[in-house]
Order: sequence, then structure tokens, then C-alpha cells
Amino acid sequence: MKLHVRINGEARELEIAPGAVLGDVLRQLGLTGTKMGCREGHCGSCMVLVNGKPMNSCLLLAAKVEGAEITTIEGLGDVRNPHPIQEAFVEAGAVQCGFCTPGMIISTKALLDNEPHPSLERVREALSGNLCRCTGYAKIFDAVRIAEHKLAKASGNGKSTRRPHRP
Ligand code: FES
Ligand code: FES
Repeated sequence: MKLHVRINGEARELEIAPGAVLGDVLRQLGLTGTKMGCREGHCGSCMVLVNGKPMNSCLLLAAKVEGAEITTIEGLGDVRNPHPIQEAFVEAGAVQCGFCTPGMIISTKALLDNEPHPSLERVREALSGNLCRCTGYAKIFDAVRIAEHKLAKASGNGKSTRRPHRP
């Protein structure tokens, strides 16, 4: 069956199997930044934005996203031109094995797009669907706060004076 979507800003017409999940479709396109971990909706490593909302692409039938705007980690930035949230994760030392990182960054983007200055509780809540086995989360929460500052600076408003998060 045919699927029409925009992926990272580009209109695509794809031939998909009716039962294919979005994460597999994306990875087959070479967008391997989206990780398939548990495939059961528990780990968040497969998180992508669908019309701006973070969704686990391991559970989402690709056929259900007809006409949607999909954003993967590749759509945010890359090594040469990183997104401020990607820079923040590196600066905070919030990346160890890196398997959870794309999903964490996607969830962070969804949060900060809607709440530029979230409380620690909101950060915890927004990232509660993303599991990390390496970092202990403290540096990830620091990264979200650093990203908040970077994005506020880039938009020319909201000079937050808060210190980085600690659990
Ligand atoms: S692979 Fe989708 S939630 Fe774990
Ligand atoms: S950095 Fe390894 S799982 Fe999060």
C-alpha cells in the first residue's frame, strides 16, 4: 500500500506493508537514528515526532500516519550542524552508550516546543517514557536545562537564571 508523509520536511510517497510499524519504515529509509529497542512501548528509544507529538514508532502502524509530518532525530541536526538540544546533551555529558539519546532528544524537543521553561517535575514527566541504562538521568536533566537556556538565548527572550537540574 502507498503511504504519503512528510519526513523531516520532505514529501515522500512510500510503498509499505499494511502491518509495517513506522520505526521499521524509517530505518529502512536509512534513518537509523531512530532505535528499535524493546518494541513494546516501554523504552522510548524509537521516539519520533508525529505532527509535533512524541510517539513510540515501534507500536505505531505506518498506515496510521498517512498525511502526517514526521520528525526524526536526523531532522533536528547532525554532527556538522547540531540542534541546540543535541549540543546540550553533549555539553552535559548526558550521552554514554547513546542508544537512548535520539529518543531522549526527541522527547526533549517536544517538551521545550510547548513549554520553554518547564519545572523539573515536568521534565521528569516528559522524559518518563524514555529509559536510560547508563547515565542515572541526572546529566540528562542537566542537558534539558542547558537546552532550555540555549533555545531561550537563540529566540532572544527568556533569560532563565536557574541552575541545571539535579534529581
Ligand atoms: S522500541 Fe519502542 S518503546 Fe522500546
Ligand atoms: S546512554 Fe546508554 S542507555 Fe542512555
